[in-house]
Amino acid sequence: MGKLWNDVRGYDETMEAFAQTCADLQVDYLDMYMLHWPRPHKYHDNYIEMNAASWKAMEDLFKAGKVRSLAVSNFKVHHLEELMERAEIMPVVNQVEFHPSCLQTEIRTFCAQHNIAVQGYSTLDNGKVFQCPEIEQISRELGVSVAQLCTRYAMQHGVTPLVKSVNAERIRDNLKLDFTLDVQMMQRIDAITTCGGSYKDSDEIIF
Ligand SMILES: NC(=O)c1ccc[n+]([C@@H]2O[C@H](COP(=O)([O-])OP(=O)(O)OC[C@H]3O[C@@H](n4cnc5c(N)ncnc54)[C@H](OP(=O)(O)O)[C@@H]3O)[C@@H](O)[C@H]2O)c1
Repeated sequence: MGKLWNDVRGYDETMEAFAQTCADLQVDYLDMYMLHWPRPHKYHDNYIEMNAASWKAMEDLFKAGKVRSLAVSNFKVHHLEELMERAEIMPVVNQVEFHPSCLQTEIRTFCAQHNIAVQGYSTLDNGKVFQCPEIEQISRELGVSVAQLCTRYAMQHGVTPLVKSVNAERIRDNLKLDFTLDVQMMQRIDAITTCGGSYKDSDEIIF
């Protein structure tokens, strides 16, 4: 898997970046190539054309068999609509921030309607969920860890969780997910409005 980084846009530039990624990874093709962030329209009037030109290059890489699937990240509904109006090949994945208090409901609904799988990054809000009293309370009631609770929560919302740890024991423990959250528990977590609050608006900033 590889990402087209934020500062690269345009057909030729995308082709060059892809070749560099393959050279760095010493591979001939990628299973997935992801457009990491839409150009924020706050800074670029022609952001739609810039995204579309990169996407066209990605489509040609797909047609040439150099990429097996195409994806986007941090695309809001209007970014997806603008891309899809101009695209021949649709993204199969949209990777967006997802954790308690950042539910991305509009994006998830749109993606479900268009067969785009949603991957959720910062499942633990980059560690901030550990400071959320409601999450701490629910995890204690269920006898599971905060990390397990948030991971399971993402999965039950149809989101593929991307949980990160550099600690082998935590990675193993985070994967123990043999429990289910009932409707009431899901609703309690859905109702949490602040939980770190690091949501990044891809129309406003580049992250
Ligand atoms: N597409 C994008 O724009 C985008 C943006 C941000 C991130 N991402 C991707 O999403 C992935 C995860 O996001 P994230 O980095 O924000 O991470 P995250 O999974 O939300 O949080 C990671 C933090 O939680 C800690 N942690 C993990 N398990 C724990 C446990 N059981 N107990 C206590 N602390 C625990 C980790 O510390 P330790 O490592 O010390 O365990 C780390 O500080 C990354 O792989 C990244 O590539 C994508």
